[in-house]
Amino acid sequence: MTTVLDVQRFKEEHRRFAVLTAYDYHSARILDEAGIPVLLVGDSLGMVMLGYPTTLPVTVDDMLHHAKAVSRGARQALLVGDMPFMSYQTSVEQAIANAGRFLQEAGMHAVKLEGAGPIVEITRRLTEIGIPVMGHLGLTPQSVHGMGGFKVQGRTQAQAARILQGAKELEQAGAFSIVLEGMPSDLATKVTQSLRIPTIGIGAGPGTDGQVLVFHDMLGLTTGKAPKFVKRFANLADEIARAAGRYVEEVENGTFPGPEHEYSANGSAPAPKVDREEVRYGAG
Ligand code: KIV
Repeated sequence: MTTVLDVQRFKEEHRRFAVLTAYDYHSARILDEAGIPVLLVGDSLGMVMLGYPTTLPVTVDDMLHHAKAVSRGARQALLVGDMPFMSYQTSVEQAIANAGRFLQEAGMHAVKLEGAGPIVEITRRLTEIGIPVMGHLGLTPQSVHGMGGFKVQGRTQAQAARILQGAKELEQAGAFSIVLEGMPSDLATKVTQSLRIPTIGIGAGPGTDGQVLVFHDMLGLTTGKAPKFVKRFANLADEIARAAGRYVEEVENGTFPGPEHEYSANGSAPAPKVDREEVRYGAG
């Protein structure tokens, strides 16, 4: 199983690594078996799974519901649970109580928090009590209104210096890695070279130690014009629409279900080999 120590070792060995978001049992199982070493149950689920315009409405209970499903599906990956808006900002006590739920109830191995400043002390306390923390700097979606929209950060010298300083403070506080989102590539490279812990980029260019993408973006489940940093490695939205069209056609013209999908009244025929999925429905 991948641990926070392995992630640290990736950096020491100059091994670039892939991270993906996951939100449910089946996708977690597929990604885990495909060898993705780190799965993030991101609060982006508010947008891609629940249809909210931002991540702000997502609650701890929403996150735990999805995180539990992911931990039932994954065996090998390091599982990181994203702490949603207002679940850690008000006090260290609140952060500890909620972060504890991600590990105790949902089987996560670490949590992710957005920002620096007051979040540095929260990171220190969580780390001290044995809850590994992934930081998140740059375009931090929970601050969408503070940033005036989903805007690239770190373009001015002052902003860039603040991000670099925040990254160093989070490392000092014990964070095991930091997501760098939506910032100029040069800045992300500089932050990466200044830290001993790995950085994980999204919209931050090729100079970070790892890369992360949102599951739905990477597979082309989200449609329309993608943000510049997204690469669609598949086009599943089209694939699903094509499959749905074929299904409608076959139901309407009577070719589905065929004889191979029917059950007989008499159970005396030899039982077919049952796979893990069929067990739930009772084969034969
Ligand atoms: O919520 C999320 O999915 C994230 C990643 C995009 C880093 O924070």
